[in-house]
Amino acid sequence: MDEVVRTIDLTRHFGKMVALDNVNITIRRNEIFGLLGPNGSGKSTLIKILSTLLLPTSGDAYVLGYNVKTDYMEIRKRINIVAGDDRPGYGSIKVKENLWFFSQLYGYGVREGWKVVNSLIEEFGMQDYADRKLNRVSSGMFQKYNFVRGILNNPKLLFLDEPTVGLDVEISREIRNYVKSWIKRDPERTILLTTHYMIEAQELCDRVAIIYKGKIVKVDTVENLLKLVSGEHIFEIKTNFILNDCLEDIKKIQGVKGLYSDSDVSTGIAKLRIVMEEEGPIADILSLLKERNIKVLALSKEEPNLEDVFLYLVGSKLR
Ligand SMILES: Nc1ncnc2c1ncn2[C@@H]1O[C@H](COP(=O)(O)OP(=O)(O)OP(=O)(O)O)[C@@H](O)[C@H]1O
Ligand SMILES: [Mg+2]
Repeated sequence: MDEVVRTIDLTRHFGKMVALDNVNITIRRNEIFGLLGPNGSGKSTLIKILSTLLLPTSGDAYVLGYNVKTDYMEIRKRINIVAGDDRPGYGSIKVKENLWFFSQLYGYGVREGWKVVNSLIEEFGMQDYADRKLNRVSSGMFQKYNFVRGILNNPKLLFLDEPTVGLDVEISREIRNYVKSWIKRDPERTILLTTHYMIEAQELCDRVAIIYKGKIVKVDTVENLLKLVSGEHIFEIKTNFILNDCLEDIKKIQGVKGLYSDSDVSTGIAKLRIVMEEEGPIADILSLLKERNIKVLALSKEEPNLEDVFLYLVGSKLR
């Protein structure tokens, strides 16, 4: 089967709140399909419905050909979920004992379970802490353990809900590498990943769905999504500080299509990312900053990224 997921006008309400609004997507076999959207856009709700933890309000969804409303037992045998905000397992037993425990839930025999667990511990370089109690490991180690737990039953469809949220750069990269090698090893495997780290989506996903307020805004390859903003000029300016009314005035300058800013509270440095139709307005922006006595610490021209695509498509920033 080439179509691993299909949703038809999938909708979920929580009271008056519409968490998913007529979502129509298909996910193909052996792809890493990304859902990219800000907090509260409906990513986890979609994963919960597809993994049969939550029922839709209306519409339909099929996973590996099975209906999520009626065939949930069939679906559950063939999937697994790794969520960054979830802490499955028992803190007072060892990492390896937890993995073995899950192997038993997934139907392995007693010895077979140990065999699989030990080989995964070795493969994932977890020997150093396999004998530590689960509540004694760092968040990075925990997430590696959680990923291994998620692939223990060799799922056909693996849901990764923000798998690297809050982790440092190195361990995030390590987990992303495992994700890539896991899917490559078997053409029957498929991944649905949610993230609001655009780097993660850019590096891992074959196709990305941009989701905003429960609606799918666009689905395409990363390459094609980036083409949407290829004609734009993007500049980054670092300043010592910035005031909101100043940002509003920059947005009003002719030729400025979008702007987003991040301030680092510890250093007091603000970073502005400005999307323009042409390079002209940069001179106006610099003189405006000078007028307001705002020091420019750095100015650079940037390549477009998925964050710019997001801004272009929905007119607001991703984070
Ligand atoms: N069980 C629930 N009861 C009520 N409202 C809910 C429930 N679950 C989700 N929501 C609401 O539905 C919307 C979508 O939430 P969801 O968790 O799917 O977003 P998300 O894209 O995963 O966000 P995040 O990036 O923060 O994880 C939000 O407004 C959320 O508050
Ligand atoms: Mg979520």
